[in-house]
Amino acid sequence: MNILLIGSGGREHALAWKIRQSPLVKRLVIAPGNPGMAELGEIHNLKVTDVAGLVTLAKDIAADLVVVGPEAALAEGIADALKTVGIPCFGPSQKAAQLESSKAFTKDFCKRYDIPTADYQTFTDADSAKAYLKTLPAPYIIKADGLAAGKGVAISPDLQDANAEVEAMFGGRYGAASSKIVIEEFMTGEEASIFALCDGETALLFGYAQDHKRAFDGDTGPNTGGMGTYSPAPVVTKAILDQTQTEILDPTLKGMKADGLPYTGVLYAGLMIENGHGRLVEYNARFGDPECQVLMLRLKSDLVPYLLAAAKGKLKEMPLPEWHDEAAVCVVYAAQGYPDSPVSGSIIRGAEQDFGSDVVVFHAGTKRLEDGKLAAAGGRVLNICARGKTFPEARAAAYAAIEKIDWPMGFFRSDIGWRAL
Ligand code: AMP
Ligand code: GLY
Repeated sequence: MNILLIGSGGREHALAWKIRQSPLVKRLVIAPGNPGMAELGEIHNLKVTDVAGLVTLAKDIAADLVVVGPEAALAEGIADALKTVGIPCFGPSQKAAQLESSKAFTKDFCKRYDIPTADYQTFTDADSAKAYLKTLPAPYIIKADGLAAGKGVAISPDLQDANAEVEAMFGGRYGAASSKIVIEEFMTGEEASIFALCDGETALLFGYAQDHKRAFDGDTGPNTGGMGTYSPAPVVTKAILDQTQTEILDPTLKGMKADGLPYTGVLYAGLMIENGHGRLVEYNARFGDPECQVLMLRLKSDLVPYLLAAAKGKLKEMPLPEWHDEAAVCVVYAAQGYPDSPVSGSIIRGAEQDFGSDVVVFHAGTKRLEDGKLAAAGGRVLNICARGKTFPEARAAAYAAIEKIDWPMGFFRSDIGWRAL
Protein backbone atom coordinates (compact mmCIF):
# COMPACT_ATOMS: atom_id res chain seq x y z
CA MET A 1 0.00 0.00 0.00
CA ASN A 2 0.94 3.62 -0.54
CA ILE A 3 -0.09 5.99 2.23
CA LEU A 4 -0.09 9.77 2.38
CA LEU A 5 0.02 11.12 5.92
CA ILE A 6 -0.84 14.79 6.45
CA GLY A 7 0.61 16.79 9.33
CA SER A 8 3.84 17.81 11.03
CA GLY A 9 3.45 17.45 14.79
CA GLY A 10 4.19 14.87 17.45
CA ARG A 11 0.81 13.25 16.79
CA GLU A 12 1.71 12.66 13.16
CA HIS A 13 5.23 11.49 14.02
CA ALA A 14 3.64 8.88 16.29
CA LEU A 15 1.21 7.85 13.52
CA ALA A 16 4.10 7.60 11.04
CA TRP A 17 6.12 5.49 13.50
CA LYS A 18 3.24 3.04 13.88
CA ILE A 19 2.24 3.03 10.19
CA ARG A 20 5.86 2.31 9.23
CA GLN A 21 5.75 -0.90 11.31
CA SER A 22 2.96 -2.30 9.16
CA PRO A 23 3.99 -5.00 6.70
CA LEU A 24 1.19 -3.76 4.43
CA VAL A 25 2.89 -0.45 3.71
CA LYS A 26 5.16 -0.10 0.70
CA ARG A 27 5.44 3.66 0.50
CA LEU A 28 4.81 6.28 3.19
CA VAL A 29 4.69 9.88 2.00
CA ILE A 30 4.33 12.67 4.52
CA ALA A 31 3.31 16.29 4.02
CA PRO A 32 4.77 18.46 5.39
CA GLY A 33 6.31 16.22 8.08
CA ASN A 34 9.23 17.17 10.34
CA PRO A 35 12.90 16.16 10.73
CA GLY A 36 12.00 13.23 12.96
CA MET A 37 9.57 11.85 10.41
CA ALA A 38 12.10 12.15 7.59
CA GLU A 39 13.55 8.78 8.68
CA LEU A 40 10.18 7.08 8.28
CA GLY A 41 8.94 8.32 4.94
CA GLU A 42 9.32 10.70 2.02
CA ILE A 43 8.75 14.30 3.04
CA HIS A 44 6.88 16.75 0.78
CA ASN A 45 6.78 20.35 1.81
CA LEU A 46 3.09 21.21 1.39
CA LYS A 47 0.89 23.14 3.82
CA VAL A 48 -1.81 21.07 5.54
CA THR A 49 -4.39 23.56 4.21
CA ASP A 50 -3.19 23.26 0.59
CA VAL A 51 -6.04 20.95 -0.39
CA ALA A 52 -5.40 21.09 -4.15
CA GLY A 53 -1.69 20.38 -3.67
CA LEU A 54 -2.35 17.48 -1.32
CA VAL A 55 -4.90 15.89 -3.66
CA THR A 56 -2.42 16.14 -6.54
CA LEU A 57 0.25 14.53 -4.38
CA ALA A 58 -2.13 11.71 -3.36
CA LYS A 59 -2.88 11.04 -7.04
CA ASP A 60 0.79 11.25 -8.05
CA ILE A 61 1.82 8.58 -5.55
CA ALA A 62 -1.27 6.44 -6.29
CA ALA A 63 -2.23 6.63 -2.63
CA ASP A 64 -4.41 3.79 -1.37
CA LEU A 65 -5.18 5.79 1.77
CA VAL A 66 -4.75 9.33 3.03
CA VAL A 67 -4.47 9.76 6.79
CA VAL A 68 -5.28 13.25 8.05
CA GLY A 69 -3.69 14.34 11.33
CA PRO A 70 -4.70 17.95 12.06
CA GLU A 71 -8.15 19.57 12.19
CA ALA A 72 -7.09 22.48 9.96
CA ALA A 73 -6.89 20.17 6.92
CA LEU A 74 -10.31 18.68 7.75
CA ALA A 75 -11.94 22.08 8.21
CA GLU A 76 -10.47 23.02 4.82
CA GLY A 77 -12.31 20.08 3.20
CA ILE A 78 -9.50 17.63 2.41
CA ALA A 79 -11.77 14.58 2.89
CA ASP A 80 -14.39 15.98 0.51
CA ALA A 81 -11.76 16.75 -2.14
CA LEU A 82 -10.28 13.25 -1.91
CA LYS A 83 -13.74 11.73 -2.21
CA THR A 84 -14.27 13.41 -5.58
CA VAL A 85 -11.13 11.69 -6.91
CA GLY A 86 -11.96 8.34 -5.31
CA ILE A 87 -9.09 8.10 -2.81
CA PRO A 88 -10.01 6.65 0.60
CA CYS A 89 -9.49 9.17 3.37
CA PHE A 90 -9.17 8.62 7.10
CA GLY A 91 -10.85 11.78 8.37
CA PRO A 92 -14.33 13.34 8.28
CA SER A 93 -15.89 15.60 5.66
CA GLN A 94 -15.83 19.33 6.25
CA LYS A 95 -19.44 19.31 7.39
CA ALA A 96 -19.00 16.32 9.72
CA ALA A 97 -15.86 17.95 11.14
CA GLN A 98 -18.18 20.63 12.54
CA LEU A 99 -18.28 18.37 15.61
CA GLU A 100 -14.95 20.05 16.29
CA SER A 101 -15.08 23.25 14.26
CA SER A 102 -18.36 24.57 15.70
CA LYS A 103 -19.15 24.32 19.39
CA ALA A 104 -22.71 25.58 18.77
CA PHE A 105 -23.24 22.84 16.16
CA THR A 106 -22.11 20.20 18.63
CA LYS A 107 -24.13 21.51 21.56
CA ASP A 108 -27.29 21.67 19.43
CA PHE A 109 -26.56 18.19 18.11
CA CYS A 110 -26.11 16.79 21.63
CA LYS A 111 -29.37 18.36 22.74
CA ARG A 112 -31.31 16.87 19.81
CA TYR A 113 -29.89 13.40 20.39
CA ASP A 114 -29.95 13.49 24.18
CA ILE A 115 -26.17 13.11 24.60
CA PRO A 116 -25.03 14.03 28.14
CA THR A 117 -23.20 17.39 28.23
CA ALA A 118 -23.34 20.73 30.08
CA ASP A 119 -26.43 22.96 29.70
CA TYR A 120 -25.77 25.93 27.43
CA GLN A 121 -27.05 28.83 25.37
CA THR A 122 -25.68 30.28 22.12
CA PHE A 123 -25.32 34.04 21.51
CA THR A 124 -24.50 36.45 18.71
CA ASP A 125 -24.69 39.67 20.75
CA ALA A 126 -23.11 40.83 23.98
CA ASP A 127 -26.24 42.16 25.74
CA SER A 128 -28.15 38.87 25.61
CA ALA A 129 -25.01 36.97 26.61
CA LYS A 130 -24.47 39.19 29.65
CA ALA A 131 -28.13 38.93 30.66
CA TYR A 132 -27.79 35.12 30.58
CA LEU A 133 -24.56 35.18 32.62
CA LYS A 134 -26.45 37.00 35.41
CA THR A 135 -28.73 33.99 35.80
CA LEU A 136 -25.81 31.55 36.31
CA PRO A 137 -23.61 30.77 39.32
CA ALA A 138 -19.82 31.33 39.08
CA PRO A 139 -17.49 30.18 37.59
CA TYR A 140 -18.49 30.87 33.99
CA ILE A 141 -17.55 28.96 30.84
CA ILE A 142 -17.49 31.09 27.68
CA LYS A 143 -16.48 29.55 24.36
CA ALA A 144 -15.81 30.93 20.91
CA ASP A 145 -17.93 28.93 18.47
CA GLY A 146 -15.20 28.31 15.91
CA LEU A 147 -11.64 26.97 15.82
CA ALA A 148 -9.26 29.12 17.86
CA ALA A 149 -6.15 26.93 18.03
CA GLY A 150 -7.33 25.42 21.32
CA LYS A 151 -7.53 28.83 23.00
CA GLY A 152 -11.18 29.73 22.54
CA VAL A 153 -12.42 28.70 25.99
CA ALA A 154 -12.52 31.12 28.94
CA ILE A 155 -13.18 30.05 32.52
CA SER A 156 -14.16 33.23 34.40
CA PRO A 157 -14.15 33.26 38.20
CA ASP A 158 -16.65 36.15 38.54
CA LEU A 159 -19.28 38.05 36.61
CA GLN A 160 -17.07 41.05 35.90
CA ASP A 161 -14.41 38.90 34.28
CA ALA A 162 -17.07 36.92 32.39
CA ASN A 163 -18.61 40.12 30.99
CA ALA A 164 -15.16 41.29 29.88
CA GLU A 165 -14.60 37.94 28.12
CA VAL A 166 -17.91 38.30 26.29
CA GLU A 167 -16.93 41.83 25.15
CA ALA A 168 -13.48 40.63 24.03
CA MET A 169 -14.90 37.70 22.06
CA PHE A 170 -17.48 39.81 20.25
CA GLY A 171 -14.78 42.45 19.82
CA GLY A 172 -12.98 39.99 17.54
CA ARG A 173 -10.40 38.37 19.82
CA TYR A 174 -10.63 35.17 17.76
CA GLY A 175 -11.79 36.85 14.55
CA ALA A 176 -14.81 35.21 12.92
CA ALA A 177 -14.46 32.23 15.30
CA SER A 178 -15.93 34.32 18.13
CA SER A 179 -18.72 36.13 16.26
CA LYS A 180 -20.90 33.47 17.85
CA ILE A 181 -20.28 32.24 21.41
CA VAL A 182 -21.51 29.46 23.66
CA ILE A 183 -21.99 29.97 27.40
CA GLU A 184 -22.35 26.79 29.38
CA GLU A 185 -22.80 25.28 32.78
CA PHE A 186 -19.56 24.70 34.69
CA MET A 187 -18.96 20.97 35.18
CA THR A 188 -16.80 19.54 37.94
CA GLY A 189 -15.00 16.20 37.89
CA GLU A 190 -11.97 14.61 36.27
CA GLU A 191 -11.28 14.91 32.54
CA ALA A 192 -10.29 12.09 30.19
CA SER A 193 -9.86 11.67 26.44
CA ILE A 194 -11.57 8.69 24.81
CA PHE A 195 -11.05 7.79 21.16
CA ALA A 196 -13.17 5.90 18.66
CA LEU A 197 -12.56 4.97 15.04
CA CYS A 198 -15.64 5.66 12.94
CA ASP A 199 -16.76 4.62 9.47
CA GLY A 200 -20.05 6.47 9.21
CA GLU A 201 -22.01 3.67 10.93
CA THR A 202 -19.86 2.14 13.64
CA ALA A 203 -17.82 3.68 16.45
CA LEU A 204 -15.04 1.33 17.58
CA LEU A 205 -13.40 2.29 20.89
CA PHE A 206 -9.72 2.87 20.20
CA GLY A 207 -7.99 3.74 23.43
CA TYR A 208 -8.01 6.47 26.03
CA ALA A 209 -5.64 8.70 27.92
CA GLN A 210 -5.43 11.60 30.31
CA ASP A 211 -3.79 14.88 29.35
CA HIS A 212 -2.35 17.73 31.41
CA LYS A 213 -3.55 20.94 29.80
CA ARG A 214 -1.91 23.51 32.08
CA ALA A 215 1.64 24.64 31.36
CA PHE A 216 3.21 24.16 34.79
CA ASP A 217 3.50 21.65 37.61
CA GLY A 218 0.54 21.22 39.93
CA ASP A 219 -1.85 21.99 37.04
CA THR A 220 -1.05 25.70 37.23
CA GLY A 221 -0.29 28.29 34.55
CA PRO A 222 -1.97 28.96 31.21
CA ASN A 223 -3.88 26.39 29.18
CA THR A 224 -1.86 24.67 26.46
CA GLY A 225 -2.49 22.10 23.76
CA GLY A 226 -1.34 19.49 26.30
CA MET A 227 1.89 19.09 28.29
CA GLY A 228 1.83 15.35 28.79
CA THR A 229 -0.32 12.25 28.70
CA TYR A 230 -0.53 8.78 30.10
CA SER A 231 -2.52 5.66 29.38
CA PRO A 232 -4.22 3.74 30.83
CA ALA A 233 -5.86 6.27 33.14
CA PRO A 234 -7.48 4.84 36.28
CA VAL A 235 -10.52 7.14 36.00
CA VAL A 236 -11.51 5.45 32.74
CA THR A 237 -13.13 2.27 33.98
CA LYS A 238 -14.89 -0.42 31.99
CA ALA A 239 -18.19 1.16 33.10
CA ILE A 240 -17.12 4.58 31.77
CA LEU A 241 -16.10 3.03 28.43
CA ASP A 242 -19.46 1.23 28.18
CA GLN A 243 -21.36 4.39 29.01
CA THR A 244 -19.32 6.39 26.50
CA GLN A 245 -20.12 3.82 23.83
CA THR A 246 -23.87 3.63 24.45
CA GLU A 247 -24.75 7.17 25.60
CA ILE A 248 -22.26 9.25 23.64
CA LEU A 249 -20.59 7.53 20.67
CA ASP A 250 -23.41 5.34 19.34
CA PRO A 251 -26.05 8.13 19.36
CA THR A 252 -23.51 10.45 17.74
CA LEU A 253 -22.82 8.10 14.83
CA LYS A 254 -26.53 7.43 14.43
CA GLY A 255 -27.46 11.11 14.65
CA MET A 256 -24.78 12.25 12.22
CA LYS A 257 -25.91 9.65 9.72
CA ALA A 258 -29.56 10.62 10.16
CA ASP A 259 -28.59 14.27 9.61
CA GLY A 260 -26.89 13.35 6.33
CA LEU A 261 -23.38 13.89 7.71
CA PRO A 262 -21.99 10.38 8.29
CA TYR A 263 -18.84 10.64 10.42
CA THR A 264 -15.63 8.94 9.27
CA GLY A 265 -12.24 9.06 10.96
CA VAL A 266 -11.36 9.34 14.60
CA LEU A 267 -13.75 10.89 17.06
CA TYR A 268 -12.10 12.22 20.19
CA ALA A 269 -14.51 12.63 23.07
CA GLY A 270 -13.26 14.93 25.82
CA LEU A 271 -15.16 13.76 28.90
CA MET A 272 -15.79 15.16 32.36
CA ILE A 273 -16.21 12.23 34.74
CA GLU A 274 -17.94 12.66 38.07
CA ASN A 275 -19.36 9.97 40.34
CA GLY A 276 -18.70 7.29 37.75
CA HIS A 277 -20.61 9.10 35.00
CA GLY A 278 -19.13 10.85 31.97
CA ARG A 279 -20.44 13.92 30.21
CA LEU A 280 -19.12 15.32 26.95
CA VAL A 281 -16.99 18.47 27.28
CA GLU A 282 -16.16 18.64 23.59
CA TYR A 283 -15.58 16.60 20.48
CA ASN A 284 -12.51 16.75 18.29
CA ALA A 285 -12.40 15.36 14.78
CA ARG A 286 -8.82 14.05 15.08
CA PHE A 287 -6.51 12.23 17.44
CA GLY A 288 -5.44 14.20 20.51
CA ASP A 289 -1.93 15.56 20.63
CA PRO A 290 -0.16 14.27 22.77
CA GLU A 291 -2.78 11.57 23.48
CA CYS A 292 -2.06 9.88 20.14
CA GLN A 293 1.55 9.33 21.14
CA VAL A 294 0.70 7.12 24.13
CA LEU A 295 -2.01 5.30 22.18
CA MET A 296 0.46 4.39 19.44
CA LEU A 297 2.95 3.10 22.03
CA ARG A 298 0.28 0.90 23.58
CA LEU A 299 -1.35 -0.36 20.37
CA LYS A 300 -0.28 -3.93 19.65
CA SER A 301 -2.40 -4.49 16.52
CA ASP A 302 -1.35 -3.20 13.13
CA LEU A 303 -2.86 0.30 12.83
CA VAL A 304 -3.16 0.35 9.05
CA PRO A 305 -6.04 -2.16 8.60
CA TYR A 306 -8.07 -0.14 11.12
CA LEU A 307 -7.49 3.18 9.37
CA LEU A 308 -8.37 1.59 6.04
CA ALA A 309 -11.49 -0.10 7.42
CA ALA A 310 -12.67 3.22 8.87
CA ALA A 311 -12.10 4.99 5.55
CA LYS A 312 -13.91 2.25 3.61
CA GLY A 313 -16.90 1.67 5.90
CA LYS A 314 -15.73 -1.76 7.07
CA LEU A 315 -15.12 -1.40 10.79
CA LYS A 316 -17.81 -3.97 11.62
CA GLU A 317 -15.59 -6.62 10.06
CA MET A 318 -12.60 -5.77 12.27
CA PRO A 319 -11.69 -7.62 15.47
CA LEU A 320 -11.24 -5.55 18.64
CA PRO A 321 -7.82 -3.90 18.62
CA GLU A 322 -5.19 -5.44 20.89
CA TRP A 323 -3.22 -3.36 23.37
CA HIS A 324 0.04 -3.92 25.21
CA ASP A 325 -0.48 -4.41 28.93
CA GLU A 326 2.26 -1.91 29.64
CA ALA A 327 1.58 1.68 30.66
CA ALA A 328 2.73 4.52 28.44
CA VAL A 329 3.58 8.12 29.19
CA CYS A 330 4.44 11.15 27.08
CA VAL A 331 6.23 14.20 28.47
CA VAL A 332 6.14 17.30 26.28
CA TYR A 333 9.39 19.25 26.08
CA ALA A 334 8.31 22.78 25.16
CA ALA A 335 10.19 25.93 24.24
CA GLN A 336 10.44 28.53 26.97
CA GLY A 337 7.66 31.07 26.59
CA TYR A 338 5.13 28.47 25.39
CA PRO A 339 2.16 28.84 25.02
CA ASP A 340 2.14 32.65 24.62
CA SER A 341 5.42 33.36 22.84
CA PRO A 342 7.72 30.34 22.52
CA VAL A 343 11.35 31.18 21.81
CA SER A 344 12.28 29.72 18.43
CA GLY A 345 15.60 28.63 16.98
CA SER A 346 17.51 27.37 20.03
CA ILE A 347 19.80 24.36 19.55
CA ILE A 348 18.84 20.96 20.98
CA ARG A 349 21.54 18.37 21.60
CA GLY A 350 21.17 14.67 22.31
CA ALA A 351 17.54 14.26 21.22
CA GLU A 352 18.44 11.69 18.57
CA GLN A 353 20.56 9.29 20.62
CA ASP A 354 19.54 5.70 21.33
CA PHE A 355 17.49 5.83 24.53
CA GLY A 356 16.80 2.09 24.66
CA SER A 357 13.87 0.06 23.44
CA ASP A 358 11.30 1.44 25.89
CA VAL A 359 11.75 5.09 24.95
CA VAL A 360 10.69 6.87 21.77
CA VAL A 361 11.22 10.56 21.13
CA PHE A 362 8.78 12.13 18.71
CA HIS A 363 9.43 15.48 17.08
CA ALA A 364 6.63 18.03 17.41
CA GLY A 365 8.18 21.37 16.48
CA THR A 366 11.77 20.95 15.31
CA LYS A 367 13.79 21.98 12.29
CA ARG A 368 17.05 20.68 10.84
CA LEU A 369 19.69 23.36 10.34
CA GLU A 370 22.08 23.30 7.38
CA ASP A 371 24.89 22.03 9.57
CA GLY A 372 22.72 19.08 10.63
CA LYS A 373 21.95 20.36 14.12
CA LEU A 374 18.43 20.18 15.49
CA ALA A 375 16.68 23.41 16.55
CA ALA A 376 13.38 24.37 18.15
CA ALA A 377 10.74 25.55 15.69
CA GLY A 378 7.50 25.67 17.62
CA GLY A 379 5.89 25.72 21.05
CA ARG A 380 5.75 22.03 21.81
CA VAL A 381 9.06 20.80 20.42
CA LEU A 382 9.73 17.20 21.50
CA ASN A 383 7.63 14.40 22.98
CA ILE A 384 9.57 12.07 25.25
CA CYS A 385 7.52 8.87 25.36
CA ALA A 386 8.12 5.65 27.25
CA ARG A 387 6.53 2.31 27.97
CA GLY A 388 6.92 0.34 31.19
CA LYS A 389 5.55 -2.72 32.97
CA THR A 390 3.99 -0.34 35.48
CA PHE A 391 3.16 3.32 35.22
CA PRO A 392 5.99 4.37 37.62
CA GLU A 393 8.47 2.45 35.44
CA ALA A 394 7.27 4.13 32.26
CA ARG A 395 7.40 7.52 33.93
CA ALA A 396 10.90 6.97 35.32
CA ALA A 397 12.14 5.92 31.86
CA ALA A 398 10.71 9.05 30.22
CA TYR A 399 12.20 11.39 32.82
CA ALA A 400 15.57 9.61 32.67
CA ALA A 401 15.62 10.14 28.90
CA ILE A 402 14.71 13.82 29.17
CA GLU A 403 17.65 14.37 31.51
CA LYS A 404 19.97 13.15 28.73
CA ILE A 405 18.79 15.83 26.33
CA ASP A 406 20.74 19.07 26.41
CA TRP A 407 18.33 21.93 25.73
CA PRO A 408 18.65 24.91 28.07
CA MET A 409 15.83 26.79 26.31
CA GLY A 410 13.25 24.07 26.93
CA PHE A 411 10.96 23.26 29.84
CA PHE A 412 8.72 20.35 30.81
CA ARG A 413 6.36 19.40 33.60
CA SER A 414 7.87 17.10 36.18
CA ASP A 415 4.54 15.73 37.42
CA ILE A 416 2.96 14.05 34.39
CA GLY A 417 0.60 11.34 35.54
CA TRP A 418 0.48 12.34 39.22
CA ARG A 419 -3.12 11.16 39.40
CA ALA A 420 -2.07 7.65 38.39
CA LEU A 421 0.74 7.35 40.93
P1 AMP B 1 -12.66 22.62 25.29
O1 AMP B 1 -11.79 23.33 24.29
O2 AMP B 1 -14.12 22.74 25.05
O3 AMP B 1 -12.18 21.23 25.58
O4 AMP B 1 -12.36 23.34 26.67
C1 AMP B 1 -11.04 23.46 27.16
C2 AMP B 1 -11.03 23.10 28.61
O5 AMP B 1 -11.92 23.95 29.34
C3 AMP B 1 -11.55 21.71 28.91
O6 AMP B 1 -10.56 20.75 28.75
C4 AMP B 1 -12.00 21.85 30.34
O7 AMP B 1 -10.90 21.79 31.22
C5 AMP B 1 -12.54 23.24 30.38
N1 AMP B 1 -14.00 23.24 30.16
C6 AMP B 1 -14.64 23.38 28.99
N2 AMP B 1 -15.98 23.32 29.15
C7 AMP B 1 -16.19 23.15 30.47
C8 AMP B 1 -17.35 23.03 31.29
N3 AMP B 1 -18.58 23.12 30.79
N4 AMP B 1 -17.16 22.87 32.62
C9 AMP B 1 -15.93 22.82 33.17
N5 AMP B 1 -14.80 22.93 32.45
C10 AMP B 1 -14.92 23.09 31.12
N1 GLY C 1 -4.36 17.29 23.89
C1 GLY C 1 -5.58 17.93 23.60
C2 GLY C 1 -5.91 18.04 22.19
O1 GLY C 1 -5.31 17.43 21.32
O2 GLY C 1 -6.85 18.77 21.88
